[in-house]
Amino acid sequence: MNASDLTIRPGKRTDDEGKKFAYYMNQASDGGFKKMFGKRFEEIVSKVYLEPNHDLSYETALFAEVAGRIVGMVSGYTAEQYQHFSKDALSRASGRSRFRISFILALIAPMMRFLHTYDEGDYYVEFLAVDGAFGGQGIGSSLLQAIEDRARASGATQLSIDVAARNTRAQRLYKRIGFTVIRRWPCTRWLRANILRMTKPL
Ligand SMILES: CC(C)(COP(=O)(O)OP(=O)(O)OC[C@H]1O[C@@H](n2cnc3c(N)ncnc32)[C@H](O)[C@@H]1OP(=O)(O)O)[C@@H](O)C(=O)NCCC(=O)NCCS
Repeated sequence: MNASDLTIRPGKRTDDEGKKFAYYMNQASDGGFKKMFGKRFEEIVSKVYLEPNHDLSYETALFAEVAGRIVGMVSGYTAEQYQHFSKDALSRASGRSRFRISFILALIAPMMRFLHTYDEGDYYVEFLAVDGAFGGQGIGSSLLQAIEDRARASGATQLSIDVAARNTRAQRLYKRIGFTVIRRWPCTRWLRANILRMTKPL
């Protein structure tokens, strides 16, 4: 792939792109979201993607394209935007799966609190994933650069991201471009950390 073949562009408000968003969101969580949401995962996420003003909205997404084909995605928002986001968009889009999803979210509430706690001036990168066949060619770095540009334009003072402690590939990339670990979850002495919060000053 030549660098000139790569385009990074904002998410479009279409059904197809909603499905892509769901796909990369699931990749970013190593398949965790599909397990959590069940069989209707793609349908629910692609529906909620079409709505503005929440963290799974088309407004948060940037897609990477090579020769017109989507090959990766990053999404993010400021701490300030998060405060004003609708918190029930997902529940409304879940329809008959609403109770299952609310129940699971209640079970993982302590982890969700960690993930959704932001520092002042944060621009939070929520999901990042690149197709395996296109890995190691700089697309992840380009997506991060594009979201960093968005973050600077929004007036944010740091980028932040959560990464699974076992995801050493992603951590290596984040460290290389200037992120450091600032918090861990769980943060007790007795349990090994599962999630690392990494930040990069802007
Ligand atoms: C993590 C992930 C997004 C990285 O995407 P990527 O496109 O492979 O990232 P890059 O190509 O920019 O960087 C990866 C490596 O390739 C190297 N690289 C960058 N440009 C390159 C190029 N043009 N040619 C060859 N190698 C290159 C980088 O130096 C980097 O090396 P490092 O691992 O030693 O830091 C991708 O592996 C992925 O989707 N993983 C699964 C989902 C995931 O873990 N998401 C993150 C959740 S927090």
